[in-house]
Amino acid sequence: MSLLEVKKLEVAYGGIQAVKGIDLHIEQGELVTLIGANGAGKTTTLKTLVGLVKPKSGSISYDGNDCTKIPVHHFVSKGLSLVPEGRGVFSRLTVEENLRMGAFYRNDPNAINAEIEHVYELFPRLKERYKQLAGTLSGGEQQMLAMGRAILAKPKLLLLDEPSMGLAPIIVQKIFEIVKMISQQGVTILLVEQNAKLALEVSDRGYVMESGKITMSGPAQELLHSDAVKKAYLGE
Ligand SMILES: Nc1ncnc2c1ncn2[C@@H]1O[C@H](COP(=O)(O)OP(=O)(O)O)[C@@H](O)[C@H]1O
Ligand SMILES: [Mg+2]
Repeated sequence: MSLLEVKKLEVAYGGIQAVKGIDLHIEQGELVTLIGANGAGKTTTLKTLVGLVKPKSGSISYDGNDCTKIPVHHFVSKGLSLVPEGRGVFSRLTVEENLRMGAFYRNDPNAINAEIEHVYELFPRLKERYKQLAGTLSGGEQQMLAMGRAILAKPKLLLLDEPSMGLAPIIVQKIFEIVKMISQQGVTILLVEQNAKLALEVSDRGYVMESGKITMSGPAQELLHSDAVKKAYLGE
């Protein structure tokens, strides 16, 4: 059974149909990327997966549960963790308080402390700034913090919405390395990206979304070398 299985999903905002009947699945342990241009429907898809947007039709099954019937706040405890576009850190809380918020639904203080140390090892910049208010961090540091917080939620499935957006190239590289590392530690990941090249390079499989539809899918290496993807997304 797939960890996540989406069938014939349609989502509309009033008269605008943002997602037009997509199918996708993610197996336990996979790192899957969903790439596509601005406005393709990627964020809408993620929001629907966590119940922030109600689908018009179709089905979403996560870990054997019908997601269209579960209230949003249940998702965190079910191991589904979304790092939203624009990061969504708590700007008036410190770095460490933000990390602890990630573990809000957990009740294992020793493990939480160990994982905070682990996040600090992944992102030494966060350790140096543990008492700093999150709102005063740079964009890249806020992205690291948002990912750290998601790790603290101990997700079974981590949904990342354009983690590289607006960041300097050197930090983008670091963010993708960390995504890969989190994946290698056993977390299943759905990575939504406009940076098709880097996303495909770190992923196992990929889906290409255009105007609300999945137009291509397959092993990431195949997509990376396909003429259609090269032409449309890699500028080659
Ligand atoms: N809250 C909303 N209300 C109305 N239309 C929306 C809303 N959010 C997104 N859309 C529209 O849905 C389409 C898909 O948007 P989105 O899912 O954000 O795409 P992506 O994340 O791929 O850039 C776009 O045409 C966008 O304008
Ligand atoms: Mg988006």
